Amino acid sequence: MRIAMIGGGYVGLVSGACFAEFGVDVAVVESDPGKLAALHAGRMPIFEPGLDDLVASNVAAGRLQFGADLAAAVAGVEAVFIAVGTPTRRGDGHADLTYVYAAAEQVARALTGPAVIVTKSTVPVGTGRRIAQIMGETRPDLAVEVASNPEFLREGSAIGDFMRPDRVVIGAETEHAREVLRRLYRPLYLIDSPILFTGLETAELTKYAANSFLAMKVTFINEMADLCEKVGADVHDVARGIGLDGRIGRKFLHPGPGYGGSCFPKDTLALVRIAQDAGAPTRLIEATVAVNDARKSAMARRIEDAAGGSVRGKTIAVLGLTFKPETDDMRDAPAIPIVTRLVGDGAVVQAYDPEGMAQARPMLPEGVRYCDDAMAAIGGADVLVLLTEWNEFRALSPIRLKEAMQGDVVVDLRNIYDPVAMRRAGFRYHGIGRA
Ligand SMILES: NC(=O)c1ccc[n+]([C@@H]2O[C@H](COP(=O)([O-])OP(=O)(O)OC[C@H]3O[C@@H](n4cnc5c(N)ncnc54)[C@H](O)[C@@H]3O)[C@@H](O)[C@H]2O)c1
Repeated sequence: MRIAMIGGGYVGLVSGACFAEFGVDVAVVESDPGKLAALHAGRMPIFEPGLDDLVASNVAAGRLQFGADLAAAVAGVEAVFIAVGTPTRRGDGHADLTYVYAAAEQVARALTGPAVIVTKSTVPVGTGRRIAQIMGETRPDLAVEVASNPEFLREGSAIGDFMRPDRVVIGAETEHAREVLRRLYRPLYLIDSPILFTGLETAELTKYAANSFLAMKVTFINEMADLCEKVGADVHDVARGIGLDGRIGRKFLHPGPGYGGSCFPKDTLALVRIAQDAGAPTRLIEATVAVNDARKSAMARRIEDAAGGSVRGKTIAVLGLTFKPETDDMRDAPAIPIVTRLVGDGAVVQAYDPEGMAQARPMLPEGVRYCDDAMAAIGGADVLVLLTEWNEFRALSPIRLKEAMQGDVVVDLRNIYDPVAMRRAGFRYHGIGRA
């Protein structure tokens, strides 16, 4: 079986490599010459654990190739996946579908025979129908079917998520489209991953509903953390106490500086707009968006308060910049507003992130000092701010930290350190939602 994957970013590259691992011939089309050059040189344009080996072995086996020539890639394939970006449209919060529709038109013009066009990108309800219209108008000569197959992988564990998903959602309306996708995902039947067949609109909405629900869960525990601080409770015990209830579940109940990343912020905003346009507003998600936005400025204020009311002239070590560990993705990372405000208020920021510094540079203000490792960032600092919970930061001993720093303030926005050990080492320790 042969397929084409349009877009070789986080989703296109991982899904393309995983389908190739399933035994499918995959042609990934990528329009960014820099990313393509890296892929041709055997370098991954993104950091994702295990991806380099998976790509190398499937390229060597002849099942995975990369190119810029969309027409060559889609010639004679059974399915074309669209995995291009759907960022927030400037000004109104809607998903920007420019890349999706441009890709659909390019595919329509290039097809040499009937094929199933599958959107893997996260797209608003109605996008599949519009793509079907584009196909019908551009290629009335071909039987082109449209399907929706939203992707649920998480950066940092993307390969495992794709190979052993909790479920696969497929919106398709013809038996042939369902049959093509069933064949593609056949290896998952063997491991009993549930595969849900739905209509197009349902599949499109399911993706937004999943991300918005998770964003709401994170925001809920963040609000509980604030409440815990006021009433002398411990948010971790609250999270455990509610999470052990099977109806609630323990995941996504870790307090932090607010959700970020390439999906939750844009998908919650897009769902709000989709729902408003449909005349069925999602007030819970509207509140989630507002509470999460406010949280990022609240975190900067928290750091300033911990530093004695002002950070002017103070050296702040920032450990972790990416929105979560095990990725280099800086899109909508809480580090961006927090570091920007600290620098704006006169702090000297010394930052270190194991994988995200190249991506961070263009997004953070000038003047940030980028360090080669955690200890270099901490050296001489007045305040330590832990922003992303990379494993290597968990291992730092409080005594070594204390020796390296000039000051004694630690603001741990992920609660990875033991407050007792920190205080014993002489720190004024500030976690989230616990004494
Ligand atoms: N990143 C995630 O964790 C994740 C998870 C699930 C779903 N999604 C969704 O998947 C989609 C893609 O996300 P991403 O993070 O992979 O984005 P990305 O920006 O990393 O990748 C998109 C790629 O598509 C390329 N591209 C755009 N137009 C093209 C065209 N016409 N031809 C060839 N290449 C083209 C871009 O150069 C870019 O490399 C989005 O809708 C996103 O919401 C992302």
